[in-house]
This record gives sequence, structure tokens and C-alpha cells, in this order.
Amino acid sequence: MNLLDEISTPHLLLRRLTADDLDDLTRMHLDPRVMATLGGIRSLDETRTWLAQKLEHWRQYGFGLWLARERETEQFAGRGGLQHVAIDGRDEIEVGYSFLPDFWGCGLATELARASIRIAFTVLNLPEIVCFTLTTNRASQRVMQKAGFRYERDFLYQNLPHVLYRLRRTDVAAAD
Ligand SMILES: CC(C)(COP(=O)(O)OP(=O)(O)OC[C@H]1O[C@@H](n2cnc3c(N)ncnc32)[C@H](O)[C@@H]1OP(=O)(O)O)[C@@H](O)C(=O)NCCC(=O)NCCS
Repeated sequence: MNLLDEISTPHLLLRRLTADDLDDLTRMHLDPRVMATLGGIRSLDETRTWLAQKLEHWRQYGFGLWLARERETEQFAGRGGLQHVAIDGRDEIEVGYSFLPDFWGCGLATELARASIRIAFTVLNLPEIVCFTLTTNRASQRVMQKAGFRYERDFLYQNLPHVLYRLRRTDVAAAD
């Protein structure tokens, strides 16, 4: 078992995605409130393809997205973590997070983002990571700011206006 396969934070259990997560993820991907900022709802088949890519990412790199359960109830709450992404032709590693609406506003995305940052810098020894979202997604931008990311620039991702935030390991070391 990989060190990163399961981790916990004060309110979350984070576990490496598996093929068994298809039903939970499909439920989330069929919720228009969640998917409004993620390119629209995804069907079961689209989620199956999406999940296969995420499982392959874990196999290839040894890190990826976790399924997030609320620690107290063990209920499925969301997903997130670290993954490669191409931004303007450059390979970056992003922190991503999404939660079911019942769990919004409790600080869980920020908790997951902070755990991802800690893993990125102390376990994976990455020099820097990014986070990005639609310019209109204020909640996500607030998560980035609370987790310590700094605004870098606006850019187009999949032809839609996004903001790019970045965090360097040296920024975190300087803040300690
Ligand atoms: C974005 C998302 C992950 C935030 O999750 P969350 O667990 O509610 O986030 P947190 O509770 O850690 O923090 C949210 C912050 O945004 C703020 N916020 C929420 N809605 C906001 C809005 N419309 N405008 C400005 N700030 C807003 C909250 O007040 C909170 O900040 P605060 O702690 O200073 O009060 C969640 O809304 C979600 O899953 N959305 C759908 C999927 C998505 O957009 N994922 C991100 C893609 S980049």
C-alpha cells in the first residue's frame, strides 16, 4: 500500500479512488449544482471514462484524486487531490476539490486543499502547484486564498475564462 492511498484530516477520510467509487461519483456528476462550475453534468458512461483516467493517473504517478468521506459519519462527501494538467501547453500539478452541496460551507474543501498542499511539498517534494477555476466561481477562489494560493493571471481553459492561482514551496517555507 502506498503512503498516499489513505490519509485523514480533522473532518475527512481521504482514500485513493477505486473502481468501486463509480456509483458515488456518478451521483455527484449528475448533480447540476455541483457540475455548474465543472463543465455540466456527466452521465454514467462519461463518469466511467473519467474514473478510468483518474485510476490510470494513480498507477502512473503514485498520487491522484481521493474520494472524501466525512470522518464522523463516513458518508461520501466529495473528491479532490493532486493531478497533472496541461495549462497553456505547460505541465502543471493542480489541486482540485468538489463536494456535494450538503457539505458546502463547512470548510471541507479548504481542509482537502491544505492536505493536498502538505502532501505536494513534504511527500512529493514538488516545487510548486496550481489551482484554477472559472472567473465566476467565487467559492472556489476563496478556498484557494484561504489555503494560501496567490492569484497569478486570467487565462482561457477549454475556451472559458479562468483564474490561475499558484503556490510555491518557498512561499510556504517563508510563511512558517
Ligand atoms: C467550490 C467548493 C469546492 C467549495 O467547497 P466548500 O467545502 O464549501 O468550501 P469551504 O467551506 O472550505 O470554503 C468556501 C468559502 O467560499 C465562500 N463562498 C461561498 N460561496 C461564495 C460566493 N458565492 N462568493 C464568495 N465567497 C463564497 C464561503 O463563505 C467560504 O469562505 P469563508 O470561510 O471565508 O466564509 C464547493 O462549492 C463545490 O464543490 N462546488 C462545485 C464544484 C466546484 O466548483 N469545484 C471547484 C472547481 S475549481
